[in-house]
Amino acid sequence: MIKFILNNQTIETDLPEGTTVLDYARYHKNLKGTKIGCREGDCGACTILVGEAVGDSVKYRTQTSCLMPLANARGKHIVTVEGINKPDNELTEVQQALVDESGTQCGFCTVGFVMSLTGFCIDETPKNLEMAISSIDGNICRCTGYKSIERAAERISQQLAVSGKQSEEFGEMANRLNISIEKGIVPDYFSEIKNRLAELKKTTDCSPLTADCSLFVGGGTDLYVQRPAEMVRAESENLFDSFDLRFIKENDDFIEIGASVTVTDLLESKAINNLFPNLYKHLKLVSSTPIRNMATIAGNFINASPIGDMTVWFLALDASIVFNNDREIPLREFYLGYKTLARTADEFVTKIRFRKNFTHFNFEKVCKRTFLDIASVNTAISLRIENNSILEAHVSAGGVAPIPFYLRKTSEFLRGREISAATISEANEIIQSEISPISDVRGSESYKRLLLKQLFTAHFVELFNFEPNE
Ligand SMILES: Cc1cc2nc3c(=O)[nH]c(=O)nc-3n(C[C@H](O)[C@H](O)[C@H](O)COP(=O)(O)OP(=O)(O)OC[C@H]3O[C@@H](n4cnc5c(N)ncnc54)[C@H](O)[C@@H]3O)c2cc1C
Ligand code: FES
Ligand code: FES
Repeated sequence: MIKFILNNQTIETDLPEGTTVLDYARYHKNLKGTKIGCREGDCGACTILVGEAVGDSVKYRTQTSCLMPLANARGKHIVTVEGINKPDNELTEVQQALVDESGTQCGFCTVGFVMSLTGFCIDETPKNLEMAISSIDGNICRCTGYKSIERAAERISQQLAVSGKQSEEFGEMANRLNISIEKGIVPDYFSEIKNRLAELKKTTDCSPLTADCSLFVGGGTDLYVQRPAEMVRAESENLFDSFDLRFIKENDDFIEIGASVTVTDLLESKAINNLFPNLYKHLKLVSSTPIRNMATIAGNFINASPIGDMTVWFLALDASIVFNNDREIPLREFYLGYKTLARTADEFVTKIRFRKNFTHFNFEKVCKRTFLDIASVNTAISLRIENNSILEAHVSAGGVAPIPFYLRKTSEFLRGREISAATISEANEIIQSEISPISDVRGSESYKRLLLKQLFTAHFVELFNFEPNE
């Protein structure tokens, strides 16, 4: 039995746990406001808000309902557009802004934009134009053109922009929700959701994790794209909401990250932000806001895509993964061949661990379009530098081999060298001997070779203001 709150209604359902929230809302509750576009997380037409009790408040995030299993709705507040509409058919501030700025034509995408912008109003991000526009990075419109939608986003961010003490108060999660209720961005019943979720929790079964089946589901953003029909009735273990897998811990030497931590969780972590000053700039290149809200780190590792961004990122940190039986393996030894992993069927990832002893880190990604696209080639590097000398180095790259690739020879070569044009040039030669890209839709072999050469050099331009032609 899955229990959750859908808009203002408490739901108990025995439907298969793998049913998507999109299908449940549309076909079982007749809530047709949420649209079906791609069913692959790409278009944003199915965007909903998902509220989760956190501390003394409810934290809302956008998610694509086409990829979200009902199991991941358990104990949460699921909000479709019907759940934010005003009862008297008046428009909310977000809806009004889109109308006033001519941000809609056929209207097919509009609900998705409304939900994303409403999410922006009630989440913790700074209320400025950049973040308002960032909140709609997972929404595609085919007919209006984005300028009018951007104007609506600007108007909304201006309406929410507050200053001084007010800003600090607005930054508190509970206050933000209260202010959004006061401003009519979300309806009054949202103020009761915290207590209703607490009541629901008392009767929600939280069975301990087992490894009784061999299909583990995180956020579902790979599985529901690859095997949508099969997932509905598949016997699976849902790991996304396991409290034991959602943590980020730090000690003097290590960072440990629970397997079900999402890309957004990383973005919001103080410890991770302290270690990676360019975190937002880099992670903004990974999928879109709703997908980042669902995509887990372990899911990225196990999917084993040769261009997985988070895999390449953690390979360059020389991270290791820990399984439910406490076995630990370096990530660089985990990939045996294309989608072939050093793992038994009943092992699931519980955490990821890496040393904090690097002084410099950089990530580069080139895609066919800048945002919401997978990489043609991506690469990351971590270095420990003292007096211009490289004491420790780990370099990784995606899109240049059948697996997410740890550049072992290049990393070894860099250790003990000075940072200089000669070092970079020699390292680039070693890289070319290590990689084996193939020509495919994301670029020819020679293009990918050239790209990695340029991106490897870009690491040093970014980190040390190195001038390539000096
Ligand atoms: C529109 C869109 C855009 C995307 N853009 C990007 C992008 O820019 N960069 C990128 O790298 N990826 C991208 N992805 C891919 C995807 O979002 C990531 O790979 C994500 O990290 C997968 O995590 P998940 O929790 O959703 O995985 P799921 O789909 O839940 O699972 C993926 C695999 O991991 C397994 N699994 C999950 N958790 C565990 C665990 N704890 N232990 C063992 N096995 C586990 C599952 O069984 C499955 O085999 C995109 C996907 C979509 C739909
Ligand atoms: S239908 Fe396109 S993102 Fe869900
Ligand atoms: S208004 Fe028609 S697709 Fe956006």
